[in-house]
Amino acid sequence: MMFDNGNLNLFEHDSFAHGVPHRTFERLRKEDPVSWSEGNSDTRGFWNLTRHADILTANKDGHLYSSAQGIRVEDQSYEEYMARRTFQETDMPEHSGTRRRVNPIFAKPVVAKFETVIRNLASNIVEKAIKKSEFDAVEEIAKQLPMMMLGRILGVQDSDLDWLVEKGDALIGNSDPDFTQHVVDQVDTEAYRFMPFRSPAGKQLYDYAAEVLAGRKRVDPDGVLARMISGDDQLDELEFKNFFCLLVAAGNDTTRYSIAMALHLLSQDQKLIQKLQTGHYWDTVADEIIRLASPTMHFRRTATSDIQFHDKTIKEGDKVLLWFVSGSRDEVVFDNPNEVQLGRTPNRHLAFGQGGPHVCLGMHLAKLEVRITLEELVKRIDFIKAIQPPTWTRSNFICGVKKLIVEVG
Ligand code: HEM
Repeated sequence: MMFDNGNLNLFEHDSFAHGVPHRTFERLRKEDPVSWSEGNSDTRGFWNLTRHADILTANKDGHLYSSAQGIRVEDQSYEEYMARRTFQETDMPEHSGTRRRVNPIFAKPVVAKFETVIRNLASNIVEKAIKKSEFDAVEEIAKQLPMMMLGRILGVQDSDLDWLVEKGDALIGNSDPDFTQHVVDQVDTEAYRFMPFRSPAGKQLYDYAAEVLAGRKRVDPDGVLARMISGDDQLDELEFKNFFCLLVAAGNDTTRYSIAMALHLLSQDQKLIQKLQTGHYWDTVADEIIRLASPTMHFRRTATSDIQFHDKTIKEGDKVLLWFVSGSRDEVVFDNPNEVQLGRTPNRHLAFGQGGPHVCLGMHLAKLEVRITLEELVKRIDFIKAIQPPTWTRSNFICGVKKLIVEVG
């Protein structure tokens, strides 16, 4: 087991295989806020921004810190980038065009209308899970609601959901052997370099999207997919395929790992359930859980000119990682940052990439799902106890509890 001595290497996925190395981030925030991580023969090294204020500074300047050369650590040729990019990997003004189009679908009041659907699904999921004396809370609870809601938002049939989620897991978890046989830093993924996340799952999702486009796969006319391929400014074929992959990847395990973090925290401190049962924390709990989970730990930018930052020079073309997971625990902004404070207000965490043009499109949906799952859970149980230590994702990009065997009562 890798012990976090404060000096773990952020390039290595194994540094994250037992949870986020928070001591390392704490040291970097204090001693080396613009730190350099060496790469290897496949992947160039990169800069790490770990302080809340610095991440905000960079995130809001999409011109200097561009998203348009890739948002993950992996290096891409221009051809690979053009073949795989979604609107998340574009800058102004291109980005704002698509963003304006999709924003209304995910706006807070629109998403709020899903409350009843979410509550019905969540109460069924919880009821079903807690009937078992012992179960994997990630599989039986955390995974279920985001998957079902993703299906409803996209407008695809429930029977396709397991398959879609499996492919989404393989994309996001492309460095974890539990989620893919094509582990990016362990096997040759050259054949898939034009596919999303350099993964064969990307090819299969492209094919699914092609079936939707050709009308051979029926989708709900009110769902996001149908709306993106009808009307005057439809997405073109490649844009549509990449948008589809983005939603399957972004809308699924991020929320799962946030709910999983909630369950993990409840299992560590039984008093949290009693506090939630008072009903005093429903306005604040989702943000606090998501702050602590921060499941997409970073996104990457690329410097478009030389930048002097603290005592370092970031060169034009260098990759810069915005470590939202670290900013969300910056002691300068958060009092007792590692503590769960269910009523934390204000809560200026960065888990959704706040303060930048790419701030998460699905954040209102994700928060609603976290809150309602917890509401439905604490109505029915007084304790949740882990009967094995949790296991964590192996990735320096996404972090979460992937297995949590519990008993409840
Ligand atoms: C707790 C759950 C979630 C977390 C922590 C999360 C995190 C993030 C972050 C950090 C970004 C910013 C990326 C950047 O700066 O480059 C982002 C963007 C995005 N998220 Fe989420 N996300 C979550 C849930 C969702 C859901 C449920 C959906 C959709 C159903 C979604 C869709 C998107 C999309 C489409 C973008 C790109 C927006 C753009 O580039 O303008 N996310 N998310």
